[in-house]
Amino acid sequence: MSQQAFLDQLQNQLAPRAIVTDPERIAPWLTDWRGRWHGKASVLLEPSTTAEVAAIVAAAEAHGVALVPQGGNSSMVGGATPPDDGSAAILSLRRMNGIRHIAPDHAIVEAGVILEHLHAAAEDVGARFPLDLGARGSATVGGLAATNAGGVQVLRFGTMRAQVLGMEAVLSGGLVHDSLGGLKKDNRGPSLDHLLIGAEGTLGIITALRLRLVPGRVERTAAWVGVAGPEQALALLRFVEARTDRVEAFELIPAASLARVLRHIPQTRAPLSPPHAWNVLIEAVATGEGEVGGQVLERLLSEASEAGLLADAVIAQSGEQTEQFWRLRHSISEAERTDGPAAQHDISLPVERVPAFLTGDARAIEAAFPGTEANGYGHLGDGNVHFHVRAPGGADRGWADGDEGKAVSRMVHDLVTSAGGSISAEHGIGQMKKDELARLAPPARMQALRAIKRAMDPHGIFNPGKLLD
Ligand code: FAD
Ligand code: MLT
Ligand code: ZN
Repeated sequence: MSQQAFLDQLQNQLAPRAIVTDPERIAPWLTDWRGRWHGKASVLLEPSTTAEVAAIVAAAEAHGVALVPQGGNSSMVGGATPPDDGSAAILSLRRMNGIRHIAPDHAIVEAGVILEHLHAAAEDVGARFPLDLGARGSATVGGLAATNAGGVQVLRFGTMRAQVLGMEAVLSGGLVHDSLGGLKKDNRGPSLDHLLIGAEGTLGIITALRLRLVPGRVERTAAWVGVAGPEQALALLRFVEARTDRVEAFELIPAASLARVLRHIPQTRAPLSPPHAWNVLIEAVATGEGEVGGQVLERLLSEASEAGLLADAVIAQSGEQTEQFWRLRHSISEAERTDGPAAQHDISLPVERVPAFLTGDARAIEAAFPGTEANGYGHLGDGNVHFHVRAPGGADRGWADGDEGKAVSRMVHDLVTSAGGSISAEHGIGQMKKDELARLAPPARMQALRAIKRAMDPHGIFNPGKLLD
C-alpha cells in the first residue's frame, strides 16, 4: 500500500515523461466535465506503449495502488474522476494516440485516439467511423468503448459495441489480451472484448481497438422539423422508417432546450419561426446511388406533412446549414450545464413508452416536487432521452446532490424501472448512479457483476468505487 514504492518501481520501467507528479499538470484532470465531482491524486501516469501499461498494472497490484483510467475526461457520470482521498493514481491513455493501421473497412487505433481525429483519418481513406457525439473533440476511443457510448447515429449503426471488431487490453497480472486480428468467428468461451466494453475501466485497461469503418458519405442533409409533441414525433419516426433506410439520426428537442441553447451559445439562431413546442432533427445521407439525402427528406417530409405528422419543417440548403442545425443539437449539454442546477438522468425505455414518459410522468414529477421543471431531449429513435429536472428558482448549485435532488432522481428511476427501462442508457454508472444501480438492478445482474469484478480484478485496483462498491 505504498505509492512511493509503486513510483520507485515504475521509475525503472517507464520513460521519465510517463510519470507526472507536478500538481499543476495533474489539476485539470481531477474534476469532471460538469464540475460535479472533485478528486485528489498526486500521480498521473501517461504511458505511450502497451508494455508500459502492463508494467503499471503489475506494479499497481504489487503495491496495492488503485488506477483510474482516463481518456478525454468527458464522462457524464464521474467515471474518470479519482477518489477524493488521494489513494489512486490517474492512468491517462492520451499519449497512446497512434493509428496503427487504416483501411476503408477498418482501423486499428490506440485507445487515446480522439474521436474527431478518427473521423478525419477515416475521411482520408474515403470512409467514416459511424459514431458521433458532442464530446467528439475530447472523447477518446478507449473511453467510448469503456462506456459503450451511443451518440446520434445509433439508430442506424448501433452503439460503440457494434463498432468494435477487436481489442487489445491489459488485464490483471499485466497480461495482455489481444484480439486485434479481427477474427469474424471465435467461440473460445465468452468474449473478453464484450466484457470490457461498458465495464467503465473496472475490469482492465483498453490499449487499442480494431474498429469498423463504413463507406464515406457523398452528401448529408439535415432537416429541422416542428411537431406538436413527442407522440407526433414518434409517429413521424415510424413513418420515415417505413419508407427509407437512409435516415441515420432522429433527435427530439423540446422548446425549452432550444431556448437554452439560443440564450447561452453565441451565434445561434432558431431554424423555425414561430418556435414549436417540440422539434425533431432528422439527418439523411446519400451513398452515391439513387436519391441524395436532401431529396429523400423533401419527399418524406412533404408526405408526412400531408399525413398531418408535422407542423413545419426546414431542410438545410447547404452543408453549412446542416452543420448549424447540428450545432444547436450538440450544444444542449453545454447550455444545460450553464443554466443552473438540475437533476440529470440518462434513461432508456421501450421506444413506444417514451412519449407517455415525457408528457405524463414528467408532469407527475413536477407535481411531486413543486417549482421543478422536467423535460427530456435526445435520441428518441433509441428510446433514450436525457431527462433533466430543473431545480426550483433560487436553489443552490449543489441541489441535485442534496436531499430534494436525490429524491427527484429516485422518483425518476423508479418510474423508469417500473416501465421496463434502464437508468443508464449510454453514459454509464460511474460514481453517479452506483447506489441507484444497487437499489434497482435485479439480483441476477448484481450477482454476476460482482462475481465478474472479483474474478477479473482480484486486487481491486481497476477504477474502484465506480459502477460497483
Ligand atoms: P473518460 O471520460 O476519460 O472515461 C470514461 C470512463 O471510461 C471512465 O470510467 C474511465 O475510467 C473509463 N476509461 C477511459 N479510457 C479507458 C481505457 N482506455 N480503458 C479502460 N477504461 C477507460 N456519451 C454518449 O454515450 N452519447 C452522447 O451523445 C454523449 N454526448 C456527450 C456530449 C458532451 C458535451 C459530453 C461532455 C459528453 C458526452 N457523452 C456522451 C459522454 C462521454 O463523451 C462518453 O462517455 C465518452 O465515451 C467518454 O470518453 P472519454 O475518452 O472522455 O472517457
Ligand atoms: C447528448 O446526447 O447530448 C449527450 O449524451 C449529453 C447529455 O446528456 O446532454
Ligand atoms: Zn446522448
